[in-house]
Amino acid sequence: MQLLATEERIRVEPEREPAVFRRPRLEDGKAVQELIASCASLDDNSLYCNFLQCTHFADTCMLAEQGDKVVGWISAYRPPREPDTLFVWQVAVSPEARGRGIAGRLVVRLLESPTCRDVKRLRATITPSNTASWRLFGSIADSLDAPLNRQLWLDAEADFDGDHEAEFMITIGPFPSLAQSA
Ligand SMILES: CC(C)(COP(=O)(O)OP(=O)(O)OC[C@H]1O[C@@H](n2cnc3c(N)ncnc32)[C@H](O)[C@@H]1OP(=O)(O)O)[C@@H](O)C(=O)NCCC(=O)NCCS
Repeated sequence: MQLLATEERIRVEPEREPAVFRRPRLEDGKAVQELIASCASLDDNSLYCNFLQCTHFADTCMLAEQGDKVVGWISAYRPPREPDTLFVWQVAVSPEARGRGIAGRLVVRLLESPTCRDVKRLRATITPSNTASWRLFGSIADSLDAPLNRQLWLDAEADFDGDHEAEFMITIGPFPSLAQSA
């Protein structure tokens, strides 16, 4: 298992404390759940699920911290039947930290990890109304110079009985690996 050798400090705005990007640990589970709960557009997960993400899936998840506060989170995994794909489950940035490139950096830092060495595609699902998410992944496709394709994955009526917006599956790629050698 490969882990980031060092924490990376990136000064997102000169007058603010630098954001630290790092792998999650078990003890981050509660803060991750609270961050997700603060994002109205995200489905809540159980706390147990967040503990699993912070441990079993830690190599394909990352958080951003400012001081002692978790301000950004990305959960992802490589689907067992598509090992060259990184499926992004959720991206969350706390409202006060948005618009400063944290979400974009979380995605790119993950793709640069040694554990994503063989990743050629990125997938995620987006609801039609989530403009910020469409822009985030559109911007990532542009920066990777890779095509972005979309197709309906879960239908609002047929799959959610009208209780949830449709989910479109987007695929970005193929693109050359961004991962650095271990
Ligand atoms: C979506 C979200 C993660 C973006 O976080 P962020 O740190 O503000 O995003 P970034 O600053 O990295 O911006 C990435 C790109 O998206 C654009 N963007 C971000 N928020 C936007 C918004 N509300 N409207 C339009 N564009 C937006 C940025 O301009 C940037 O584009 P650029 O690279 O072309 O300039 C954040 O708004 C959020 O947590 N929303 C609630 C949870 C959610 O919906 N998550 C996504 C679905 S899993």
